[in-house]
Amino acid sequence: MSGGIAMQATDIIPVKEALKLPAGSTVKVRGWAYRRRDLGDKAFIVVRDSTGIIQAVFTPDSPSHPDARKVTVESSLVVEGTLKDDPRAPGGKEIQGKKLEIVHLAENFPIRRDASREFLLEVRHLAVRSRKMTSVLKIRNTVFEALHEWFRANGYYEVQGPMFVSAAVEGGATLFPVKYVDGSTVYLTQSSQFYLEALIFSLEKVYTVAPSFRAEKSRTRRHLTEFWHAEAEVAWTNLEGIMKVEEELVAHIVRRVLEKNAEDLELLGRKTEILRNVEPPFPRLSYDKAIEILQGKGFKVSWGDDLGADEERALTEEFDRPFFLYGFPVQAKAFYHKNDPSRPEVTLSADLLAPEGYGEIIGGGERIEKLEELVEKIKSFGLNPRDYEWYLDLRRYGSVPHAGFGLGMDRLVTWIAGLEHIVDSLPFPRTVSRTYP
Ligand code: 4AD
Repeated sequence: MSGGIAMQATDIIPVKEALKLPAGSTVKVRGWAYRRRDLGDKAFIVVRDSTGIIQAVFTPDSPSHPDARKVTVESSLVVEGTLKDDPRAPGGKEIQGKKLEIVHLAENFPIRRDASREFLLEVRHLAVRSRKMTSVLKIRNTVFEALHEWFRANGYYEVQGPMFVSAAVEGGATLFPVKYVDGSTVYLTQSSQFYLEALIFSLEKVYTVAPSFRAEKSRTRRHLTEFWHAEAEVAWTNLEGIMKVEEELVAHIVRRVLEKNAEDLELLGRKTEILRNVEPPFPRLSYDKAIEILQGKGFKVSWGDDLGADEERALTEEFDRPFFLYGFPVQAKAFYHKNDPSRPEVTLSADLLAPEGYGEIIGGGERIEKLEELVEKIKSFGLNPRDYEWYLDLRRYGSVPHAGFGLGMDRLVTWIAGLEHIVDSLPFPRTVSRTYP
């Protein structure tokens, strides 16, 4: 076998581990040249791997000095040398370089410090290497891991619905039509909710994490055309029951990020005070009261209106933690929401809003369980009950009270990481104007 890098990898250690060793230790690390400069006759290379960055310096007495001077930004390399304390170096230590192996000498890296936002999106396949993006992706990893952890620990079954569907869940305006193999038109799913509803009849408590697609035409800080949707559906429960699930789940995820990603949150400059407040029960604000608050703040809203991003942002000023907004008017929510029997003009639904201006991260509530009621509501929304035949069947054979919700994972990451724009919460965002790279 030829002795490539991988073959000799045994003594290579992660940068983070190298930084923990005492001065005088011999270390070998590998990664990419994050920064490169010459100072007098010294060649400095800051090496980046998935765990952190460390500075290496090559002086003319090292046989690798000429190679070190050749290294370009983002070249891949292996560095070996002796650790020395140096308070000026990142992490307080520096490698006095002895050996350098250039694995690949990078071409002129196109990303400069002053790169525009649009350019960074155009070269996203390279921009994902930034330390900021690396930290976001680590936080995102914890968010997904903690979500699965919570559902599994609480007796839920993970299930999968189809991505090609034949009817809208969340209204026709944002459906993506796809020409199917047989020439018919099908759609990309907006939500797996109806399939989850079918599965509670065998598994009772189910969840899924999958992409959902919305042909959102507006450019906003919180809309993607393809987003990661965590959805859950629970038999034998009601609105209050599902709100408890949501707050426990979100609190668990935030706790895990605080535990596991302290360094990433710091690198992103995320203030964590509010994240530490995320403990159940979350405050609950009725839609009625929200309208009063908004009118008091000068918004031109009246009862029955749907609340947009600006209204939500204004409401988040009232809270220092996530909160539920419940009791939306019938016309402001999708047809499957159950109307409150004691007040038929409102639905038994709730959104969970993140503080600090972020707004809605979850939408959920109780579902209609009676066949006649569902048929009437479908008709009253101007839809055709025949398009929902199989969904109606679920109310024909052993219907039960049930509730569920959908959590926008990208929105959750955006808030937890304190990002300005949802496109920075995932590696390869899809928006109204972007499907590349
Ligand atoms: O409120 P929504 O539309 O609810 C549903 O889709 C339900 N069928 C879910 C369910 O009950 N199973 O979407 C749920 C969440 C929103 O709160 C938001 O966080 C996220 O999905 N979301 C989006 N995230 C990014 N980009 C978009 N275009 C989004 N649309 C919704």
